[in-house]
Amino acid sequence: MTAQDPPEPAAPAISLHDFTDIDHSAESTYVAALEAFDRLPLLRELKALAVERTHTGPGRRVLDVGCGFGLETLRLARLVQPGGAVTGIDLSADFVAEARRRAAAAGLDVDLVPGDAQRLPFADDAVDVARAERVLIYLDDPGRALAELVRVTRPGGRIAIIEPDFDTNTVNVDDARLVRAVLAHEADTAVVNPRLVRDLRGDLGALGLTDVEVDSRMVIFSQDLAAQYFAGIGEAAASAGAIDAEDGRRWTSTIAALHRDGRLFGAVGYYLFTATVPPATSPAS
Ligand SMILES: C[S@@+](CC[C@H](N)C(=O)[O-])C[C@H]1O[C@@H](n2cnc3c(N)ncnc32)[C@H](O)[C@@H]1O
Repeated sequence: MTAQDPPEPAAPAISLHDFTDIDHSAESTYVAALEAFDRLPLLRELKALAVERTHTGPGRRVLDVGCGFGLETLRLARLVQPGGAVTGIDLSADFVAEARRRAAAAGLDVDLVPGDAQRLPFADDAVDVARAERVLIYLDDPGRALAELVRVTRPGGRIAIIEPDFDTNTVNVDDARLVRAVLAHEADTAVVNPRLVRDLRGDLGALGLTDVEVDSRMVIFSQDLAAQYFAGIGEAAASAGAIDAEDGRRWTSTIAALHRDGRLFGAVGYYLFTATVPPATSPAS
């Protein structure tokens, strides 16, 4: 997004650390953060490409794993009508409740259930399409979740996975040493699997999936989201002692000044993986 975008409402600094423990977190902060990410045009492009590549449309049965409070799930529910069905599953009972509230308000019939991506409570071959967006990076056993996505998708069905690479974070703070320290701390601590995308193509092939395709977008943050996110990761690096207090203050004031002047630039690389489930896929062990 560019400097001419309309300003978004101010929000507290955000951190991506706590999505595995969302029911104990400051929920409204995370809702605002997910909504802000969801608005980013280049991430929207990858979501649209996932829809296209998985042939998601009328009549399809679609599963959204780690659906959050249903931002994309509800869009998919519209796309599969008439005749299709969408299910969303998320570990957070609070998010599932919010997704149900939003689905009801939109008059959409979506099955929204609490549950773990690593132990999906669904039968083998239950859906035509299974997708997960920004979920595998948080899991202790992403391989198990991948096997589960494959197990519940019928032979010939399609899988889509969207995940970022945390080592691709970019921000236009001048001090290269400080930038490296803050971004390395974020990449090393933000999530369980910050660089998981690098192995995903091989992992999908090892599971016997075919037609594996990889797309990417360097997702450019809005000015406000960049200010919230990059301020937050500087605070985290200072609190953890990865940078000293003076550097922490300098980081915060630099981000604030760039933001105030409309010159803040932040981006992160996201990947989309799509693949086909082959006829003889073994169930997850
Ligand atoms: C960054 S959010 C992404 C939500 C949604 N996919 C989106 O793109 O808006 C990560 C989501 O993964 C969920 N999550 C984390 N661990 C999970 C698990 N083991 N099983 C299912 N969902 C999980 C979190 O509760 C959260 O909703």
